[in-house]
Amino acid sequence: WVLMATARSPTNIAVIKYWGKRDETLILPVNDSISVTLDPSHLSATTTVAVSPSFDRDRMWLNGKEILLSGGRYQSCLREIRRRAEDVKDEERGICIKREDWEGLHVHIASFNNFPTAAGLASSAAGFACLVFALAKLMNVKEETTELSSVARQGSGSACRSLYGGFVKWAMGNKEDGSDSIAVQLANETHWEDLVILIAVVSSRQKETSSTTGMRESVETSSLLQYRSQVVVPRRLIQMEEAIKKRDFPSFAKLTCADSNQFHAVCLDTSPPIFYMNDTSHRHVQLCFLVHRTSYTYDAGPNAVLIAPNRKVAHLLLQRMLFYFPPPSEKELDSYVLGDTSI
Ligand code: DP6
Repeated sequence: WVLMATARSPTNIAVIKYWGKRDETLILPVNDSISVTLDPSHLSATTTVAVSPSFDRDRMWLNGKEILLSGGRYQSCLREIRRRAEDVKDEERGICIKREDWEGLHVHIASFNNFPTAAGLASSAAGFACLVFALAKLMNVKEETTELSSVARQGSGSACRSLYGGFVKWAMGNKEDGSDSIAVQLANETHWEDLVILIAVVSSRQKETSSTTGMRESVETSSLLQYRSQVVVPRRLIQMEEAIKKRDFPSFAKLTCADSNQFHAVCLDTSPPIFYMNDTSHRHVQLCFLVHRTSYTYDAGPNAVLIAPNRKVAHLLLQRMLFYFPPPSEKELDSYVLGDTSI
């Protein structure tokens, strides 16, 4: 027999960034962060997990290609979910798995992203959130979402925020075992329905410096990171929570841009400096200032995440973007496969 469970999880975009760990194994951050979870029909991961007595080892396929599961992060998630597993009964098919049986059973995992992997569009966030949720479903884990977020966090920090829709805060926590480093929902997905998020894919190439390596180097070498995590973020977080609560777009937009700018300033303050944004990203930023009432944020890559208060402004922004960055011609599209494009 084979038992299966499937889940889909959207990615999330941080408006107050997580950058820097105080514990690399447990993935504990140096500051709180806040994100908005996207609609799952757009940027999401879909994962199916299966268990069968005939499987001789845990295996995983990502976008159709088998990947090694030896990495500590996958192992942490599998171990933590197995530890919380409960009895599973399927009377119709005569299947009965006792909670103690899970240790000896192996799983097969197949996961797909409907957007570029590791191009700075937080694919690991959607991926690990989805994996943890699907495994929890398969193994009948009863824990609350917040508890599951602490498992997803051990896969990839930002993944803990993708277990909720709407606006989510990842509280850094203070405990050494990380038990209080969890995600909580600040407002659900219906709270600010007018908000529109546009993503301009500048490059779908894998980033040169992974978030994990980048933030390690920033923690080791950037004094701006210390100032940011200890002084700026605690203050900014209170203002951001207030702006979200009141749906105050001007304040939300200002804080989002400022935090993105500071995160990239920390990257530049790192030795050797990390350049995630490129010339096209800088031009998108300028464009945002031309269209009144819009905001931008950039993660560990050059792709722009543009935020508008409503569809009307989003439409205007899109029109401007198409004017300044016309879609590539047929000829340019041929080289698109090899290189970057402007939109
Ligand atoms: C720039 O969650 O990818 O997107 O915990 O090492 O897996 P690891 O890093 P990851 O970092 C994301 C960083 C960011 C900002 C954010 O999402 O808060």
